[in-house]
Amino acid sequence: MPDELKVFSGSSNPELAKEICDFLGLTLGDASVSRFTDGEIRIKVNENVRGTDVFVVQSTHPPADNLLELLLMVDAMRRASAWRITAVVPYFGYARQDRKDEPRVPISAKLVSNLLVTSGASRVLTMDLHVEQIMGFFDIPVDQLYASPVIMDYFRKKDLTDFIIVSPDPGGVRRCRAFAKRLGNLPLAIIDKRRPEPDRSEVLNIIGEVNRKKVVIVDDILSTGRTMFDAAAALREKGADEIYGSCTHALFAGDSLERLNGSVMRKIVVTNTIPLAAQLDSPKIEVLSVASLLGEAINRIHSEESVSTLFE
Ligand code: R5P
Repeated sequence: MPDELKVFSGSSNPELAKEICDFLGLTLGDASVSRFTDGEIRIKVNENVRGTDVFVVQSTHPPADNLLELLLMVDAMRRASAWRITAVVPYFGYARQDRKDEPRVPISAKLVSNLLVTSGASRVLTMDLHVEQIMGFFDIPVDQLYASPVIMDYFRKKDLTDFIIVSPDPGGVRRCRAFAKRLGNLPLAIIDKRRPEPDRSEVLNIIGEVNRKKVVIVDDILSTGRTMFDAAAALREKGADEIYGSCTHALFAGDSLERLNGSVMRKIVVTNTIPLAAQLDSPKIEVLSVASLLGEAINRIHSEESVSTLFE
């Protein structure tokens, strides 16, 4: 195993990459991401990586150029004889089409996994995959981290009497149950959500007693915000008192910010796996950093130590 570890970043989330480097006491690796005149991406690694343990930090939220940059950067590292290349993908995009549940749809998550392996990634470090079976799409090691320790620390500062954790859909129950347990066996409620079409959601029912409760709706992704804000409105209708939300990957697509500001939610706690655009500055959004979690995991991967013990 080489002594040297280097961290590089694409352009999707350079602030997070810099924070990870600060945690590790490293200078960010020198690589440039520029454009040819026609708009094609041009990557150049400006320092020697031969025989080095390389980590490339890049979230793959839209535009798709973020994904392409990651693939090109990994390819550049491979051709420059890096010893091992870990794709550090704090937000693994294209994860929502993860199975062929209707005719004529792609399995986008599988295609993206194939592309990453083909580009030369030796392993993947990611966080809160939309569905865990995506790990099985790779035949290389995948370490999945959870943002929950950072998010739970935020809520632990509150008096959690009368709090209840709410899963905004049945698919999120496992995540929410773990969250509730670790916050001191808080009760759990579940929202029976239907998606009549992509990017629309409909609350059918709430399973659990939320009247006069303070609630935290826990989700992995916030895109249009419909899931979260519709859940909040339905909970308020059933008598919920203070309503908080938490999600790891804050895409804030479309008019979600306006709808957050007009919603009954008191606060939504998100992480920096995806950089928040400046216009998303809102007193209702609290951004927590996952840099130290990712940094510690990189340290452990480099020194061949257990990553899972990070969660014990
Ligand atoms: C759904 O399965 C996910 O966990 C999220 O609830 C969903 O991606 C959020 O999307 P939106 O904010 O557009 O409702």
